[in-house]
Order: sequence, then structure tokens, then C-alpha cells
Amino acid sequence: MEILLIGGTGFIGQAVSRYFKSSAVPVFVLTRNPKEENHRFWDPQNKEVEGESLKNITHIINLNGAGIAEKRWTPSRKRELYSSRIEATAYLFELTETHCPMLQHYIGVSGINAFGFSEGKTFQEKDPFGSDYLSTLVRDWESAHWRFQIRVKTTVVRLGMVLDPSGGAYTKMAVPTRLRLGTVVGSGKQLVPWISLEDVVGLLYHLCVAKKDFPPIIHGVCAHSTMAEISHFIAHEEGKKIWLPNLPSFLVHLLFGSMGQLLTRSLNVGNGSLIATGYTIKNTTLNAITDAKKN
Ligand SMILES: NC(=O)c1ccc[n+]([C@@H]2O[C@H](COP(=O)([O-])OP(=O)(O)OC[C@H]3O[C@@H](n4cnc5c(N)ncnc54)[C@H](OP(=O)(O)O)[C@@H]3O)[C@@H](O)[C@H]2O)c1
Repeated sequence: MEILLIGGTGFIGQAVSRYFKSSAVPVFVLTRNPKEENHRFWDPQNKEVEGESLKNITHIINLNGAGIAEKRWTPSRKRELYSSRIEATAYLFELTETHCPMLQHYIGVSGINAFGFSEGKTFQEKDPFGSDYLSTLVRDWESAHWRFQIRVKTTVVRLGMVLDPSGGAYTKMAVPTRLRLGTVVGSGKQLVPWISLEDVVGLLYHLCVAKKDFPPIIHGVCAHSTMAEISHFIAHEEGKKIWLPNLPSFLVHLLFGSMGQLLTRSLNVGNGSLIATGYTIKNTTLNAITDAKKN
């Protein structure tokens, strides 16, 4: 087995890369800014790649994409969110035809925000896409992943909020908390589907090595917690208390524009597909994410 990671320099990708390397699996990373010996340059916008060393790649894990919740969704940011996912994946498909003749399995990551918002409903893998901006982005992103299906086994993993003290949403929420400016956004009652970073890595590894068949679309979700539970958990881990009142939804929408919905509305999804892969979830409570690191 030889892995090609796209988005391998990011929060999730670095952890995936470390895990495969520690399991003695060779990993190459396609990046716009190569810095390490196993990094290979690519520029999906201008369709350039340093592809000579990719001929033995058997598995691709595609995590590419500019941060969804990093900046306001201005028209230019939306173009970047789109091109770093859909156009980059289209170019990836082209280049693997030439450079990766041994490819067996393609795993494309997308997001769990594929359905709109719950209002009491639990969404399953077979449910249709929603009509909000994020759902249509996920729909187009997954269509780009499915192109690989004509050549190799293809799996799409829809990730919930990835939680770990080393980065992502956790560190973004920890910054104001450390400054004693932590708050709970919206009512705090909105449900957030989440997965620990340890489980993302474990699940992706499991999908690469599993011998049995599993569903083509997997909801990468360990559990759901309310936004208030997640905010108080992070504050507690940082040794702080949240004393400010909740940030009302209308202010969240003023501050973040339409991206505010992502923070203030509930999403509830099933994870039967993940269970069906045979993978055993390691962290089903928020405390478990950090308890394991303390021992
Ligand atoms: N973190 C989460 O909670 C979460 C939840 C659901 C889904 N996801 C998805 O999982 C994937 C990885 O997430 P992550 O948190 O690891 O992301 P990240 O830390 O922001 O890393 C993103 C990666 O995408 C690449 N990239 C390509 N074009 C980019 C651009 N225009 N701007 C920024 N990065 C660009 C970067 O590679 P180079 O700079 O090396 O080229 C980088 O390695 C993303 O597609 C994300 O949407 C993440």
C-alpha cells in the first residue's frame, strides 16, 4: 500500500500522514508549497504537478479545501472554497490517469453539512442534498469525488466538526476563552455532529486496510453535542469559565453573514454507515477526546 494525501499539510492531513508513516505505510503529499522530503508540488489552478514518483500509489485520500468557517463567504471566498475542492479534484482525476496506474481506492472527504438543518429530523446517507449554500457546495464536491468511480473503488466520508486540542474548531474556540472572552453562540441548544481527530485518522486507516465491503457514503460522526456543551468543555479544558452571556443569533449573522447558520442551527445525522464499516469508534464523549491524552 502507498498513500497519496491531498490536503496533507493541514490540521487533519498532518495527523493522517503521521499515523500512516508510524504504521510503516509510505505517504506522499501533494501540496502547493512542498517543504518535506515526501512532499510533491502541484498547482491545480495552472494544472502543474511533480508526478514522477507517484507511479506506485494504491490509495488516495483527498482532504483538499480552503477552510469553510475561516472567513466570511464573500463572492471571492466562495470562488476559493469551490475551486480548492471541485476544480482541484477534477485536476486530481486527470493527473492520476497518467501518474497513478496502480490506484485501487479513492477516498474523498466532504462535510456533514449536506442536508440543510435539522428542525427535529435525523438525516441519513440516502437523504437528498439541501438547497442552502453549503449543501450545494458539498453536492458539487462529492460529484467531483464520484468521477473516480469509473476507474477505482470510491468512498466519500462526510466529516462532522473535527475536535482535537491540536487545531481546527477547538483551537478557534479556545482563543477567546483563554482571553476570558469565551461565549456560547446562539441559543447553545443547537446540535453539532462531531468526530475526534483520533477517530478521523483511525477511520481513514481502517477504510484503506479493511477487507470487507462497506457503504460508499460514510457519515464520519462519533456523536452529537450541543454548542453549549462543546463551548463549556473547551473552556473547562483551558481552565476557564464562560461568564459572558450567549452571543445572540442575530449578532452571529451580522458578524459572520450567511456562514452564521453553520454556528447557530442544529444538525442531527445518523452514523449507521460508519458502524457498518466495522470501525470501532474510540471517542463517544467530549471528555474522552482529552482524557486519552492525559493518561
Ligand atoms: N476540520 C474540520 O472540522 C472539518 C470538518 C468537515 C470537513 N472538513 C474538510 O476536511 C478537509 C481538511 O480539513 P482541515 O481542517 O485539515 O483543513 P486545513 O487545515 O485548512 O487544510 C486544508 C488543506 O487544503 C489545502 N488547500 C488547497 N487549496 C487551499 C486554499 N485555497 N486555501 C487553504 N488550503 C488549501 C492545503 O494544502 P496546501 O496548502 O499544502 O496546498 C491544506 O493542506 C477540508 O476539505 C475540510 O473542509 C474539515
